[in-house]
Amino acid sequence: MKILITGGAGFIGSALIRYFINNSNHQVINVDRLSIGSCLDALNDVINDTRYFFEQVDICDYESTRVIFEKHKPDAVMHLAAESHVDRSIEGPLSFVKVNVLGTANLLEVARAYYNKLPELKKNIFRFHHISTDEVYGDLGSHDLAFTEHNAYEPSSPYSASKASSDHLVRSWHRTFGLPVLITNCSNNYGMYQNSEKLIPCMIKNALLGKPLPIYGDGLQIRDWLFVDDHVRALQLVLESGRIGETYNIGGNSELKNIDVVNTLCFTLDRLVNKKPRNINSFRELITFVTDRLGHDRRYAVNSDKIKNELQWQPLETFEGGVEKTVAWYLANMKWLLASDIDESELSLSTQVDVKCNHAVIDAALPYLDNVSFTSDAEKSVVQNNK
Ligand SMILES: NC(=O)c1ccc[n+]([C@@H]2O[C@H](COP(=O)([O-])OP(=O)(O)OC[C@H]3O[C@@H](n4cnc5c(N)ncnc54)[C@H](O)[C@@H]3O)[C@@H](O)[C@H]2O)c1
Repeated sequence: MKILITGGAGFIGSALIRYFINNSNHQVINVDRLSIGSCLDALNDVINDTRYFFEQVDICDYESTRVIFEKHKPDAVMHLAAESHVDRSIEGPLSFVKVNVLGTANLLEVARAYYNKLPELKKNIFRFHHISTDEVYGDLGSHDLAFTEHNAYEPSSPYSASKASSDHLVRSWHRTFGLPVLITNCSNNYGMYQNSEKLIPCMIKNALLGKPLPIYGDGLQIRDWLFVDDHVRALQLVLESGRIGETYNIGGNSELKNIDVVNTLCFTLDRLVNKKPRNINSFRELITFVTDRLGHDRRYAVNSDKIKNELQWQPLETFEGGVEKTVAWYLANMKWLLASDIDESELSLSTQVDVKCNHAVIDAALPYLDNVSFTSDAEKSVVQNNK
């Protein structure tokens, strides 16, 4: 199958592409404009594979996107391109509306025109798989049941509202135009190559630099955590075997308070790093509570029974196991972690983001990093990760 993946240079998209190239015969066309969160390094292992193609295109541009469809003639689309960070959506909501709502509508229109011209046999195979978030459902009280696919949408932030809008558009293109769509709504992902503006890599980076570990409000907000490798397995199953027009929730079975996530990271770092910065004894000493995010949701949790029962998927990684692998990976790739620190002044240079490093950050950290030594536990984890 030829699969066109939008946002394939991002955190989840790149994990999905690595998974397809290494575990299937699929061809992949990565369509990404390259911007915040993009990391072409994450694709180093697959760029020379003859089944991998990269097209630097903005999905908001109808004509360029149409040309890519005509050139590659995909059998399926997996749509991950998005503005993805809640904090940024509060600072500047309009770019989220532009990419997540208008960009999705644009992509749907390109896909519809393309699909309508396909021969019947190809039409039967074609799928438009939209990747979305559990945040579209709004938040839960501490005793509420986890969200199922039947819960009403009640998004709170401009990010989740823009993703909810895109989900509605995708459903309507199915109902109105007969486009064969699939939708998945997943919980918080974590794993290697995630941009350091997101919680887990941000905490690891700050910890290694001896900087405060900022926790919003009281830190009691609850999220479900999904290891990205488990997520991409689920995405493949839904694409290949999901029922047209259906929505599938994908959760990690790991509901945790933010403060407990950071404590687990600190315990793991304490165990894996011998020499700590600023003469601290434990990375927990760096935890600092900061003013809460506006409109911050208290709890998300998704019920994944549907995908478990229909497609026999379940997460294989525990949170502790996933964190161990993730921390060990960032320790083994510390320069990458520091280089992914994006300076505001660089944001407009979107096409160069993947090669840009914040040299000042690395230079400041180098004397300390040279002295970092790992415990034998860390070395074992790195070896296991690389297998
Ligand atoms: N990361 C999570 O925990 C999480 C959770 C739930 C849902 N999601 C959804 O999964 C998808 C991927 O998330 P991620 O964490 O990998 O995001 P990311 O920010 O790491 O990557 C997004 C990618 O999309 C690209 N992109 C953005 N606008 C584009 C445009 N106009 N044209 C082409 N490419 C564009 C970016 O350049 C980037 O490479 C998103 O749709 C997000 O809403 C993510």
